[in-house]
Amino acid sequence: MKIISRGCQLGWLLVTGCLLCGGASAAPASVPPVSYGVEADTFHPVKEQHGMVSSVDALATRVGVDILKQGGNAVDAAVAVGFALAVTHPQAGNLGGGGFMLLRTAAGRTTTIDFREMAPAGASRDMFLDKQGNADSKLSLTSHLASGTPGTVAGFALAVQKYGTLPLARLLEPAIRLARDGFVINDALANDLKTYGKEVLLSHPASKAIFFKADGTPYQKGERLVQKNLARSLQLIAEQGAAAFYQGKIADEIAAEMAAHGGLISKADLTAYRAVERQPVSGTYHGYELFSMPPPSSGGIHIVQILNILENFDLAKMGFGSADAIQVMAEAEKYAYADRSEYLGDPDFVKVPWQALTSKAYAKSLAQQIDLQQARPSSAIKPGNLAPYESNQTTHFSVVDQRGNAVAVTYTLNTNFGSGIVAGNSGILMNNQMDDFSAKPGTPNVYGLVGGDANAIQPAKRPLSSMSPTIVVKEGKAWLVTGSPGGSRIITTVLQMVVNSIDFGMNVAEATNAPRFHHQWLPDQLRVEKGFSPDTLRLLESRGQHVQVEAAMGSTQSIMIAPDGTLYGASDPRSPGALTAGY
Ligand code: GLY
Repeated sequence: MKIISRGCQLGWLLVTGCLLCGGASAAPASVPPVSYGVEADTFHPVKEQHGMVSSVDALATRVGVDILKQGGNAVDAAVAVGFALAVTHPQAGNLGGGGFMLLRTAAGRTTTIDFREMAPAGASRDMFLDKQGNADSKLSLTSHLASGTPGTVAGFALAVQKYGTLPLARLLEPAIRLARDGFVINDALANDLKTYGKEVLLSHPASKAIFFKADGTPYQKGERLVQKNLARSLQLIAEQGAAAFYQGKIADEIAAEMAAHGGLISKADLTAYRAVERQPVSGTYHGYELFSMPPPSSGGIHIVQILNILENFDLAKMGFGSADAIQVMAEAEKYAYADRSEYLGDPDFVKVPWQALTSKAYAKSLAQQIDLQQARPSSAIKPGNLAPYESNQTTHFSVVDQRGNAVAVTYTLNTNFGSGIVAGNSGILMNNQMDDFSAKPGTPNVYGLVGGDANAIQPAKRPLSSMSPTIVVKEGKAWLVTGSPGGSRIITTVLQMVVNSIDFGMNVAEATNAPRFHHQWLPDQLRVEKGFSPDTLRLLESRGQHVQVEAAMGSTQSIMIAPDGTLYGASDPRSPGALTAGY
């Protein structure tokens, strides 16, 4: 057992049920009434009656709203948005990556679709170690070895087949048009092409030919980006279904690209890929039910675990942005991320102690360790190496239809533009999700996350994720649909959406706009956005937190549903170009 300094260790809990932990009784919470937004509020949600889409890109949001207006359900609209983002938001939208869908039907059934990438058959535990045995992040991030077998097309096809109402080809039409006829580049894409694009795309001729002009400069804001090859690939999927991607011409392109450049994904890997329907992680918080993504994402388990710990404190009374509330939340986050490094991995390969990690008894034992006045140094929980953060671009979108079906999707290429490699003439950018495996125990990945055996590389295994599409249910009905990009910060960003809405009574726009903070145990730093009072930050420092002011965290795209069915939505102002709209 590696985790130390705990009154009730998880291993012991598994055996004993932690009967002796007792002690901290749940604090009586002064949870305020729900706020949907009143005139006097500072931030106002978008308000609609019938259907709503919230995504990082205005063009993609409009595609989803059109599908809803034409009678498609939330799954149809979500899939159309996902395909559109693969064209208009190439930083993260994708066909060559993977992700997760969480959906709750109007009838009250909640399920998930796991379309996370899988390690190719030729992958091996030490494939990213150099001759000295050190992890080489260039290999796991920017080489042909960086890509896992993509899952997006299989995931979308499965979602539509099981829960959609319109043909897949119909849902691909808007994306085909956007790729074939082009679209006008917005500020966000222009900026990302200038910075990250130059780093990862320019050195690959097929990628350069798409995103850069003949003079070698990236396309700018206001210019039209046409992606003819991507349009052809989308058209093939419309005509032949997912088989075009996994067995047909697109599979040939991907396998040939990999074979020519030392990559591993073969035609057999693509043929063998399966999206999987999985039972969601669920928990309760102050009378609400919460559903989120199970392993191979760590998101759901740790959001529930942290909320269970927080239920032992009266956050509402402490107040948003108070040193007390931040201290409690940061300490709870440390415990969760320490457990993540030890226990979480692909459930098809490792036994994840899911029930124990999300049990109220275990959370109570952790709550008892939390000292409001003195932070526990991360080194007292478990030692590890530090790594700097890098920006990342996952993306999330939320959809609710007029029947009351709700869908939350988070998917990604991993970092901005993934590996930067476009597969042959397919126009499809490939992911660099292999970096989400633990290349070497204790060595941090691009997000500074460490892991061990549970997340070691194995053929056909899915790398551990933090993506957390989440639906909170109130009195049996979907109430908050949310999620975010942000790598390791996804979990704490979604957590803050939930806590801001429930404990601090914020409307969905206020909850989105509120400044965020994050602690992931290692490195031992409390990262905060601008906007917290200097007095609060000084108090936190005096209580042992190592405060660091950081750039924006996350980009939530959320919808809140009032009991009368009115929809309230908010796109994150941290992402210029995002749009929440409906009808
Ligand atoms: N690639 C980031 C994540 O899945 O958490």
